[in-house]
Amino acid sequence: MAHYLGIDIGTSGTKSLLIDEAGNPIAEATATYPLATPKPLWTEQDPEDWWQATKSTIRTVMKKSKLKPGDVKAIGLSGQMHGSVFLNAKGKVIRPALLWNDQRTSAECDEITQRAGGREALIRMVANPALTGFTAPKLLWLRNKEPKNYAALKHLLLPKDDIRRRLTGELATDVSDASGMLLLDVCHRRWSTELLGKLDVDPSILARVYESEEVTGTLLPEVASELGLSPDCKVVAGAGDCAAGAVGNGIVRQGVLTASLGTSGVVFCHSDTPQYDAAGRLHTFCHAVHGKWHMMGVTLSAAGSLQWFATQLCIELAKKKGADPYEILNQEAAAVPPGSEGLFYLPYLAGERTPHADPHARGCFIGLTNKHGRGHMARSVMEGVAFSLRESLAIIDGLGVPIKEIRLSGGGAKSTLWKQILADVFAKSVCTINAEQGPAFGVALLAAVGDGAYKNIEEACKATISVVDKLPPNKVAQKRYGAAFPVYQRLYQSLKERFVDISHLE
Ligand code: XUL
Repeated sequence: MAHYLGIDIGTSGTKSLLIDEAGNPIAEATATYPLATPKPLWTEQDPEDWWQATKSTIRTVMKKSKLKPGDVKAIGLSGQMHGSVFLNAKGKVIRPALLWNDQRTSAECDEITQRAGGREALIRMVANPALTGFTAPKLLWLRNKEPKNYAALKHLLLPKDDIRRRLTGELATDVSDASGMLLLDVCHRRWSTELLGKLDVDPSILARVYESEEVTGTLLPEVASELGLSPDCKVVAGAGDCAAGAVGNGIVRQGVLTASLGTSGVVFCHSDTPQYDAAGRLHTFCHAVHGKWHMMGVTLSAAGSLQWFATQLCIELAKKKGADPYEILNQEAAAVPPGSEGLFYLPYLAGERTPHADPHARGCFIGLTNKHGRGHMARSVMEGVAFSLRESLAIIDGLGVPIKEIRLSGGGAKSTLWKQILADVFAKSVCTINAEQGPAFGVALLAAVGDGAYKNIEEACKATISVVDKLPPNKVAQKRYGAAFPVYQRLYQSLKERFVDISHLE
């Protein structure tokens, strides 16, 4: 039987997943790496760490599965979107990559908007406004702030596409990930020569764009032998982690949405046409479904908020009790009533994208009293993230996109409590599916399509993905959250100017 490998270059680690042709997971492995924050709100990683993690996890899954090199017919690549891998003429990485949640590029976002001829003109060219996390502002930052490095720049790649280069020697990307560079004409699925001209950027630094299931090359012989794979193994274009995760969740037709709780949180819907939110609060990108699009709202610190809370404030406690900090937090949070007795959390640890597009926004606990304890704080973190995702859902709803089913995914969705909070805050049932592997599974399916095992990704999803559980909202909690949501929304409005004041203090 043919087998396929999905690789997801995440922010906290890289995951490799091996599936068989029927979509059954055969083996998986994860390797983690650090995230550097050289200054507040800056985030960087070394692409070499991604490569070492990719190689070690592939070797592990091959060993675990005992497959022969020729059994793996194709690989799909997924990864954190927007990151900038700067390469020189010799193919060497010039400096650490700036990541999706890096907020250093406000000035460059203004420069892009101005060079494009204003926000509307920019949205017409690339379907999205300039946001600090996107790739084009990072490129201009390099030009403005590190001119020597810019002079050495020959190629600009996204994280997963640098892994492709190392695996196959090819410089290629896919439509979904390329959309997040702010350099793609999203409606026509090709680089925007118009915007590139206005930004004075040489198009030759960009990789060739493919649809997600298309084959971009095969493994370099020396890499294949090092990894225990065949040099005939194909590498398909793959997808950015949001589109890949959505494919892995079966979001390949209108009406079915996904809400994912990874480091970032994403509310994602499929669209048969390239629609956009005129206010630019949602991103409009090409989907990994051939010739289709998607819209999504992004909460920058979703499960990342709980991870911050657990690692900064609860590790010692967990060590003392010899337990997993997340288990302790879940138990304590479950004992607190919905609404956390008036405590609110704003999840803006890394600034925010949807709906505020505000790099200065900061995380906050608001409403603390003597009565509140750690359980309240943990619960309010989960609720604040859920409110933030509801803001994206409300914008999608407002555009007239049908919302027939919401599927949950991501590490945070493993918590039964957090799932219930999402159902209650959304005032809608939330579903869990049989496949839990997210982006790695999505691109493994794209690899299967690229190898010809399925006619298209819709057919692959239909054959392998089904809903296994549906959690309805609790009426009492739903009502309480219905009253708390507008208060949550007003808190940002009250604080946004103070966030700017805080940023001037640094
Ligand atoms: C999407 C985004 C994040 C990263 C996280 O626009 O920035 O979801 O892709 O991996």
